[in-house]
Amino acid sequence: MGRLNIAVFFGGISSEYEVSLQSAAAVLENMDKGKYRAVPVGITRDGEWFYYGGSCERIRADEWRGADCTPAVLSPDRRERGLILSGGERVRIDAAFPVMHGMGGEDGTLQGLIELAGIPLCGCGTLASALCMDKDKAHRLVRAAGIDVPSAVTLDGGEIPNIGTVAAVTGFPAFVKPLRAGSSLGVSVARDPSELMKSVELARQYDSSVIIEQAIRGSENGGRVCEVGCAILGGSSPIVGEVDEVEINGDFFDFTEKYTLRTASIHRLPRADESSEKIKKTALKIYKALGCSGFARVDMFLKPDGNIVFNEVNTIPGFTEHSRYPLMMRAAGYTLERVVDMIIEQAVGA
Ligand SMILES: Nc1ncnc2c1ncn2[C@@H]1O[C@H](COP(=O)(O)OP(=O)(O)O)[C@@H](O)[C@H]1O
Ligand SMILES: [Mg+2]
Repeated sequence: MGRLNIAVFFGGISSEYEVSLQSAAAVLENMDKGKYRAVPVGITRDGEWFYYGGSCERIRADEWRGADCTPAVLSPDRRERGLILSGGERVRIDAAFPVMHGMGGEDGTLQGLIELAGIPLCGCGTLASALCMDKDKAHRLVRAAGIDVPSAVTLDGGEIPNIGTVAAVTGFPAFVKPLRAGSSLGVSVARDPSELMKSVELARQYDSSVIIEQAIRGSENGGRVCEVGCAILGGSSPIVGEVDEVEINGDFFDFTEKYTLRTASIHRLPRADESSEKIKKTALKIYKALGCSGFARVDMFLKPDGNIVFNEVNTIPGFTEHSRYPLMMRAAGYTLERVVDMIIEQAVGA
C-alpha cells in the first residue's frame, strides 16, 4: 500500500494563529514519512487558503506565505475527496488533521466541512468540537453527568452584567472569559464589582459572548487548588496519558504570574498519587459526556478536599514538544511521533 496523504491544516482566523503554527510544525515533523505524505494547508489570518510546499521552519517563523503557496480549497464534493488547487490540479486526501486552535479550526466549523467532504477526520467531530468550544454548553453537559463545574453567569453579545446577580451566583473575585476562545486570551479576574465591566470589555475583544465564573480557590487554612490536565487519545477504549498539574490559588497574582512566566516548568509531571486515578476517571467521563473522539485534553481543578471541578476541554490542544498534551503522553510511554501516528490511525480506522 502506498503512503496516505494527510492534510494538515494550520494558521487560521482565530486569535490563536501563532500557537497553531508552532503546533502544526511539530505535527508535520513528527509524521512518519514512511507511512504518510503530509499535505500542508495554510490558512492566513484573513482566511485565505493555500496548499503549502515549503519547510516547517518557515511555518514556525510565520514566513510560510510566498512562492511555495498555491491557492487551494477543500471540495465538499465527496467524489473529489481532496483539494482543488488554483490551476485545477487535484490533491486527493486520505485523512484531514486540523491543527488549529480556536474559532474556525477547533470549533466544529472546519470539522463540518471535512465530514461533509467524506474525508476521515483526526480528532473530535463537529458536534463535540462545537460543544467544547462553548464554555457554557460544555459546563451544562458535564454537570448533567454528575461532575462539579464552577457557578457561572453567561452574557450574550452586548448584554450588561447585573452586579447583584454576579455577586449572588459567582461572588468575587470572579474569572471573566470570552465564551469561545483559548490560550487564556481575554481571560481576567474581576476582584470586585468595580472591575467587572473592564473584564467584560476585555473578554469581548475575543468573543461577543462572555462567561463569568466563580473562582475555584483553596481553603482558608492554606490548602491549595491545583489545575490538573489529562490527555486522552482514542474512541471506545481510549488511552489516557499521565496527569499533570499547575498550582494556582484562584487569585489575580497567581494567575498573572502563571501567564507571564509561561513556562512548561511549572507543569509538574507525572502527578502520581491516589488522586491521579480519580482524575483520569473523571477526565474520561467528561470526554464521553461531551462526545469527544480522536483526542482531547481535559482540564480540571483539584481542590484541597479532593473534589474535582471541571474547567474545559481543549479539542485541539497545543502540540509542540513542550506542550502539555505531548508531555503527558510521553510520560505514559508514547512519543509525539507515535501519538501523531495513533491519531491518524484512529481517523482512517487502521
Ligand atoms: N473558575 C476558575 N477558577 C480558578 N481559576 C480559573 C477559573 N477559570 C479559569 N481559571 C484560570 O484561568 C486559566 C484560563 O482559563 P480557561 O478557562 O482555561 O481559558 P482558555 O480557554 O483561554 O484556556 C485557567 O487555566 C486557570 O488557571
Ligand atoms: Mg485553558
